[in-house]
Amino acid sequence: MNAMYLERKAGPEALIWGELPQPRPQAGEVLVRVRATGVTPTEFQWFPTFNTRNGEPRPFPIVPGHELSGVVAAVGPGVDDFKVGDAIYGLNDWFTNGALAEYVVAPATALAPMPGSLTPIEAAVVPISALTAWQALIGRGDVQPGQRVLIHGAAGGVGVFAAQLARWRGAHVIATASAGNLDFVRSLGADEVVDYCADRFENVARDVDFVFDSIGGETLERSWAGLRPGGTLVTIATRSAGAADPRVRDAFMLVEANGAQLRQVSHLLDTGELRVFVAGEYPLAAAPSAYERARQGRLRGKIALRVAA
Ligand SMILES: NC(=O)c1ccc[n+]([C@@H]2O[C@H](COP(=O)([O-])OP(=O)(O)OC[C@H]3O[C@@H](n4cnc5c(N)ncnc54)[C@H](OP(=O)(O)O)[C@@H]3O)[C@@H](O)[C@H]2O)c1
Repeated sequence: MNAMYLERKAGPEALIWGELPQPRPQAGEVLVRVRATGVTPTEFQWFPTFNTRNGEPRPFPIVPGHELSGVVAAVGPGVDDFKVGDAIYGLNDWFTNGALAEYVVAPATALAPMPGSLTPIEAAVVPISALTAWQALIGRGDVQPGQRVLIHGAAGGVGVFAAQLARWRGAHVIATASAGNLDFVRSLGADEVVDYCADRFENVARDVDFVFDSIGGETLERSWAGLRPGGTLVTIATRSAGAADPRVRDAFMLVEANGAQLRQVSHLLDTGELRVFVAGEYPLAAAPSAYERARQGRLRGKIALRVAA
């Protein structure tokens, strides 16, 4: 099969186009013919990209890309939820080869039927971002109607889902974004918007029940003061993971694959409660340019790679 892969520990600029053996599904796994995959630039800094679960170096070649849409090509023993030909989307295991390839293997429990209202390109940018927002706002935060919710980075890949889920739960949504994205985040359901380059969010975000932070650092530090006693702060910023402050470490959350939650997300997508924003579409062979564009930021939503028609 054709794939974009790494032959050494490096960033997306080192991705190579070539032929790799097609993977085979084991028990509980699904072989997917990939149609599209989302572009997550920080993946090249993640531990599982270059290490096994035991902490050993992973063997090369390494194929990145852990969110995907596609068609079921084969199922391993014990898989009853999916059959050959089903259109699906979801995640594959962080520690295994990913979806910058014509075929990928994924656990059946990490997949869901592709929402009927979405194209494969749209579906491919949903799983990581929507599940992250779901697990933060609904899992950890259990956001309730009328609560005051602060969403940092609301125009970004995860932020667009966080803002929309907060609105769907009936919260009062305060969102931060740069000036050019303020109207955009209003259209996602934000009641109040703050241009983080020009204004201090602390002037607006007081007595907040739930803070969703995708930025970390100073933004995170300044957010604690606006939290009401008993309120919840969740940070997904990669740099919060190894923070010295135990309060920050406790607030850090790592997204997990969850096909059941993805089915709930699908329902909200199909009923129009959630909208998807594809920030750009590139062919698989142009993956290095797509990652570089994503790394530069200032996007609305997330970039997708087109793997097959
Ligand atoms: N822990 C996890 O499970 C998990 C899961 C997914 C992602 N992540 C991480 O979460 C982060 C965000 O991911 P993403 O895909 O949403 O990234 P993204 O698409 O690049 O979005 C980042 C957003 O942050 C905004 N921003 C930048 N500086 C800001 C500031 N000081 N205050 C407020 N907003 C600011 C940008 O807004 P403008 O464009 O308007 O400037 C941009 O929309 C990344 O570090 C990613 O690795 C973690």
